[in-house]
Amino acid sequence: TVPVIIDCDTGVDDALALLFAVRHPGIDLRAVTCVAGNTDVDGVVRNTLTVLEIAGAGDVPVGRGAERPLIEPARSARHVHGADGMGDLGLPAPARLPADVDAVTLLRREILASPRPVTLVPTAPLTNIALLLRTHPEVTRNIERIVFMGGAVATGNATPVAEFNVWHDPEAAAVLLTAGVPITMYGLDVFERVVVPGPRVRRLRESAEPGARLAGALLSHRPATPAADGDDPGGGIGDAGAVCAVVDPAGITTRALPVEVSLAPGPARGQTVVDRRSRPGEAEIHEGTREQALVDVALDVDVDRFVRLWLDTVAG
Ligand code: BDR
Ligand code: CA
Repeated sequence: TVPVIIDCDTGVDDALALLFAVRHPGIDLRAVTCVAGNTDVDGVVRNTLTVLEIAGAGDVPVGRGAERPLIEPARSARHVHGADGMGDLGLPAPARLPADVDAVTLLRREILASPRPVTLVPTAPLTNIALLLRTHPEVTRNIERIVFMGGAVATGNATPVAEFNVWHDPEAAAVLLTAGVPITMYGLDVFERVVVPGPRVRRLRESAEPGARLAGALLSHRPATPAADGDDPGGGIGDAGAVCAVVDPAGITTRALPVEVSLAPGPARGQTVVDRRSRPGEAEIHEGTREQALVDVALDVDVDRFVRLWLDTVAG
């Protein structure tokens, strides 16, 4: 099994990622840490604890992390994830509290305590991860890889060019990209494409098993556009695709490319600038080539393969 820690802002599709991680036999989910993003951090903690309880994983440690990005104010995504950040499904309050240490301390503890190097899966703004890397840089020696949902090669969502998680805390994303560990960018280009067909979503909603039923309700909150199946839109698994890529890396096609976050104020702030050129341009000819870390950028995804993997795992 792969030791995994998810850093999330649960979040409708973060919940789909948690349900998958808890149930996949190849994953040893060692901790979950929470950060402000889709909703405020206390809402994220509550949602995360509730989802883990429904999934039968009430013993996985949960850490409360940053209340806001490094520089920007917190800006929730209520219009996407509902007022409670979880599709306003009226879920029960959790029975337990988060860990008595903060997210960064919990991340450090669990990463260093793991007998095998950990795969870190951020599915949220990267504030906790940046704070971790700057506060406890020694953790990188026991990190196998960071597979993060964020960024976009082509079109953004928060702005025309910036994806929400990177846009919400661009400085934190810049810290991540220069962490010096192997990184996979599971960006919007693949994120949007993995959609569970409508009839399967309906079946999940009608399931007698609470985790599968929750998954069905959450997917119904994420209708795909355009509809994959006539009038029945189905639902995108979103962040869960990044966790699928951990257990089934062959399901995505990646290329090692230089990626840089645009930090300047203005219309490109938060854009992940991905260099897909095959030869140097005028900038390099005139100014010399800059040293830039390479990121394994997901350019394509085998949609059927990830839909099947996610469904087989969550629906049982
Ligand atoms: C990302 O932002 C959030 O709304 C989703 O949970 C996902 O992590 C997509 O831009
Ligand atoms: Ca998320």
